[in-house]
Amino acid sequence: MQPDMLDSAAGQFALLRPGANPRQSLRAWDAADEYLISHIQDAYKNKPITVFNDHFGALGTALNHQVKYWITDSYCALQSLELNQKKNNLVSELTVVSPLDQWSSNATLGVMKLPKNLSYLHFLLQGCFKSNISTVLIAGMMKHLPKNILSFLQRFGTVERFPFKKKATIYKLTLENVERSAYPKSNILRNIKLISHANVFGRDKLDPGAEFLLDNITALPSANSVADLCCGSGILGLQYAKAYANQNDELHLDFFDESFMAMRSAELSWVKNNINGHANFYWEDGISNKHQGYDLIICNPPFHEEHTVGDHIAKRLFNDAKQHLNKNGKLIIVGNRHLGYHVTLKSYFKHVTQIAANGKFVLLSAHA
Ligand SMILES: C[S@@+](CC[C@H](N)C(=O)[O-])C[C@H]1O[C@@H](n2cnc3c(N)ncnc32)[C@H](O)[C@@H]1O
Repeated sequence: MQPDMLDSAAGQFALLRPGANPRQSLRAWDAADEYLISHIQDAYKNKPITVFNDHFGALGTALNHQVKYWITDSYCALQSLELNQKKNNLVSELTVVSPLDQWSSNATLGVMKLPKNLSYLHFLLQGCFKSNISTVLIAGMMKHLPKNILSFLQRFGTVERFPFKKKATIYKLTLENVERSAYPKSNILRNIKLISHANVFGRDKLDPGAEFLLDNITALPSANSVADLCCGSGILGLQYAKAYANQNDELHLDFFDESFMAMRSAELSWVKNNINGHANFYWEDGISNKHQGYDLIICNPPFHEEHTVGDHIAKRLFNDAKQHLNKNGKLIIVGNRHLGYHVTLKSYFKHVTQIAANGKFVLLSAHA
């Protein structure tokens, strides 16, 4: 992995973007990060800050001396921050906090990359308000701004928008009034009670890919040790456990997600459903080496990382799954037909078979 040089108002930093395929020209920052760094150097030099949603640790690295709290839902973002701080020989005093923890801000300045989903933005602004962060700088690229972003932010206070630079902008929000977020939220989907935190995939409705897998749940093999990889709020693992736990006292499920909110949502959902069997919940990038093998891994893989679409994450996950299957273990995935996962899986597994398909989705089983 080769670093790129960020030449910023706060200095030069060699930044890595872990997980990107070497053939993809993906960097660990964008013009919105550069804008935030330069504005903070000009207007808030040395002011203690709380950073939110820093995808690859560019802000945490370049503004290292000012960052007191670094709030992340993403395990991959945390790994990137640690890697980039090390790469730049920085000794960090920042405290890493999940968005579900209480953080006491000591009246820091809030500095945020615009989240993709507005429910999560609302949740974070509620957290800022509770912890005495009165000013939040929110930066994003023009192409990623929701149409209603200005009126959305105005619900929470006074907003000033800075001029676009390199197609990026900053909103300065002075928080005055933050209504309660609707999250965590309870839903019942296909007879499963789901609790979903604000940044969880499929928090309001069932993903059509997940639905296709659930339509075919009885075609999955019975297994003792099962992983729900990329679990979201846990719908796939929960439905599997519901279908198979009564036939199998030994059933043990591990749920994995790189989103802290997803991992916690799956845990809350598991408790709500009183299902037989044992379960553990892990906040990880894929499946780490500390885990033993599984008889079955089920997965509805992501095909984008924030705004970047691609199969680079799915490939990493397939490789992880391969390392964590027992001798006769199977990986079962659901995916959009057009993503061509049957071909991708073939580079990791000897046997790939189609369990079911419709016009849009395929359900594939892979084993060594
Ligand atoms: C398509 S959603 C599937 C969620 C749920 N299983 C469903 O079917 O509704 C993909 C999930 O993968 C998670 N994810 C993305 N990258 C990951 C990684 N490197 N390791 C673990 N989980 C990841 C996302 O947070 C998201 O919850």
